[in-house]
Amino acid sequence: MTDKTAPQWDEQDSQSFIDFGRYFVPHREQQMATICDLIAPPDHSFTVIELGCGEGLLAGALLERYPSCLLQGFDGSPEMLQCAQANLAHYGARFTTTQFDLMDQDWRTLEQPVHAVVSSLAIHHLDDDQKQILYQDIFAVLAPGGALVIADVVQPADQHGVAVAAQAWDEAVQQRALTLENNTTAFEFFQNNKWNMYHYPDPMDKPSRLFDQLKWLAQAGFADVDVYWMHAGHAIFGGRKVTA
Ligand SMILES: C[S@@+](CC[C@H](N)C(=O)[O-])C[C@H]1O[C@@H](n2cnc3c(N)ncnc32)[C@H](O)[C@@H]1O
Repeated sequence: MTDKTAPQWDEQDSQSFIDFGRYFVPHREQQMATICDLIAPPDHSFTVIELGCGEGLLAGALLERYPSCLLQGFDGSPEMLQCAQANLAHYGARFTTTQFDLMDQDWRTLEQPVHAVVSSLAIHHLDDDQKQILYQDIFAVLAPGGALVIADVVQPADQHGVAVAAQAWDEAVQQRALTLENNTTAFEFFQNNKWNMYHYPDPMDKPSRLFDQLKWLAQAGFADVDVYWMHAGHAIFGGRKVTA
């Protein structure tokens, strides 16, 4: 299933994202709050898995919001995992990390079902077929009542949508750079490094159409499949495993 020869995220990408990710993600705080809102915690302690947890921003938001949440952060980058461990050390045993390859299937067999799987800006590194298999495998590891919530870049259906996403993403990054730092350094890095894949497609990025992904979620068995938020090609979507 895995083509290890294809271009993949590397440690230089991790360092760039650690340095500049807070400027690159449109409405980052609103996105994280939306994902937290969608978890619908049970009235007992529960486990959430985050795929591609990066430096642990979303994981931290979930741990803060839900004191009975245990969070398992999965990522392929040693640098990201080290950063996440340092950032979330104060949560003690509530936060654990695992190095994994999102493309592999060996990590998808869990001893216990989990309440939720979340992911931000990682699943677009899988192609269409790999995403469909991933959604089936996640459905299998969720407890009844559990949720899958994905925040990710998606592929617009035509070139007009691509142009709109490209421009809106540029504007969002420029605005965040000005708002957070009162300068355009981060926006210049974003432009010079051709980070906006709607202007500069990169074989490492394989965004799928949102409409297709919603269908794949329904085909995998998810109910209440929905899009909860979208801006500048970034969407939050997912579904639930209904109680048996
Ligand atoms: C754009 S960053 C997003 C990080 C974090 N989720 C966030 O929103 O801040 C993408 C993350 O996915 C991870 N990643 C990319 N491809 C991966 C793969 N094949 N296996 C495991 N992790 C991967 C990277 O290491 C990185 O932490």
